[in-house]
Amino acid sequence: MAGVAVVGPWAKEKLDALGRYLDFYSKVLKNQSWRTVYVDAFAGGGRAIVRGEPKRPAEGPSLFLDDQQVDAEQRELVDGSPRVALDVANPFSRYIFIDPNPARGDELEAMRREYGASRQIDVLRTDAAAGIAWVVSAPISKASHRGVAFLDPFGAKLNWSSVQQLADTGLFEVVVNFGLNMAIQRMLPNSGEVPDGWAKTLDAYFGTRAWFDEVYHERAGGLFRTSGFEKHPDYSERLLELYRARLKSAFGHVSTPRLIRNTKGAPLYYLLWAGPHPKGLKGADYILKMGERLRVRGGRRKSA
Ligand SMILES: C[S@@+](CC[C@H](N)C(=O)[O-])C[C@H]1O[C@@H](n2cnc3c(N)ncnc32)[C@H](O)[C@@H]1O
Repeated sequence: MAGVAVVGPWAKEKLDALGRYLDFYSKVLKNQSWRTVYVDAFAGGGRAIVRGEPKRPAEGPSLFLDDQQVDAEQRELVDGSPRVALDVANPFSRYIFIDPNPARGDELEAMRREYGASRQIDVLRTDAAAGIAWVVSAPISKASHRGVAFLDPFGAKLNWSSVQQLADTGLFEVVVNFGLNMAIQRMLPNSGEVPDGWAKTLDAYFGTRAWFDEVYHERAGGLFRTSGFEKHPDYSERLLELYRARLKSAFGHVSTPRLIRNTKGAPLYYLLWAGPHPKGLKGADYILKMGERLRVRGGRRKSA
């Protein structure tokens, strides 16, 4: 099991939502003549170890836990997004898995051999931008193909230009991990003095500089206050809505967001669906709102 990625327990909620959507999608397209393509642009290795709640260290609190500190008995092996997609009841005609990490690439290759001739699989050991550019330049067309791309980056490594390329084909739907709390908020200092590198990353992620005005406004200088920038109190919601609006204008339809929280209830990221077809929207909305319904039924907190 050495080298297999370790993920938080909330990954199961993400994978469950993805699996349900892929099931819905592949059932709807089952009796149609299109060839179907599944693209996993940040694929991971196909399996991951889910860590349980870390045990409290004997002495004093520790902010950082490494793999060794995670009790082996608390570990559970789960299928990652590639295997979730490969195992849907009505498989896709073709699977494209993208990951530049050498260990993940090896795991994906082993998985490809394991499935043998039962699935048509390509493993691209490159980054998402190059992989998606390859996919959209392949001989696929709206007349003959339909597809789903899962965009599940670490941090803010997803370029808007890649999302737009998928939208421009007219045949892809996307399920996106919008890393608002895990990635984006961390690049937004209260002062508004966003370091150049982070600003460039955010420009590429949103495909526009508009994120800045959704986060910051000029502070009025007063007798005792210096002028400068401060954050809008609702800047998180504004950024989410900016990204949803961009997806809607690129694809035609965008889902309500599904908030994924950690085990302590802190927000981590949102799952969003976007695509060209209202039927896809209906299915995605139903599935993505499911977390909310389950929580309410279980008597726990209602997600935002
Ligand atoms: C969140 S994990 C993916 C988990 C997987 N989608 C799942 O649900 O099982 C992100 C993956 O992206 C890969 N990665 C990092 N930078 C990347 C890039 N620029 N393009 C594509 N993949 C990248 C990492 O190696 C890692 O395996």
